[in-house]
Amino acid sequence: MFISFEGLDGSGKTTQIERLHARLEAAGKTVVRVREPGGTAVSERIRSLLLDPDAPIVPRAELLLFSAARAQVCDEIIRPALRSGDVVIADRFFDSTTAYQGGGRGLANPDWLGDFHRFVTDGLVPDLTVYLRLDPETALARRRARSATDDRMEASGQKFFDRVAKAYDTLAASEPERFVVLNAALPVEVLAEAIWRDVRRVDGNLGGARR
Ligand code: TYD
Repeated sequence: MFISFEGLDGSGKTTQIERLHARLEAAGKTVVRVREPGGTAVSERIRSLLLDPDAPIVPRAELLLFSAARAQVCDEIIRPALRSGDVVIADRFFDSTTAYQGGGRGLANPDWLGDFHRFVTDGLVPDLTVYLRLDPETALARRRARSATDDRMEASGQKFFDRVAKAYDTLAASEPERFVVLNAALPVEVLAEAIWRDVRRVDGNLGGARR
């Protein structure tokens, strides 16, 4: 089973991924976690390029670098793990590129990006995508509380994040089967319960009811 988490920086993905990871392990599953960009030697190098505030990157190159890191993670980590029967949890996947580069940078229309993502991942699509939805102002306030400095992406400005948030909403609405949309302002425990319910719905072996 392959689960991805999406949302603005500051939406609480990491906390919820940790909760889910623990619950899946308690249920006897082996869990492999990946973060994007990153996760392999090559992808971590690409990550430091992408987040470096002192290295300007034009939007087209940005789209390709995020995608190059993803292609590597798919072949090196995600596919082998799924073949072994592990559960893979990805902190961001191709929806981040659609939202940040497609929506935020205004780079490409979603139809073109759909084909592109299929090429990049060689057809790998998450079974479930948890979108932790937060308004861009609250996300910014959370980021400020967490760290005084922005990485290159975070320094892109509030208008950029408004466009990213809008793109996420459009994306989630266009694929209601794959996406579960949750209000990221809810208490941690409430969100963790909701996510667990959805994971069990998708993986019948965990004791949940399938749709
Ligand atoms: P990271 O620190 O991992 O984000 P988070 O705050 O979610 O932990 O940094 C990743 C940054 O890169 C984040 O701002 C989102 C952005 N990003 C893209 O713009 N496109 C992508 O395809 C991915 C995977 C991330």
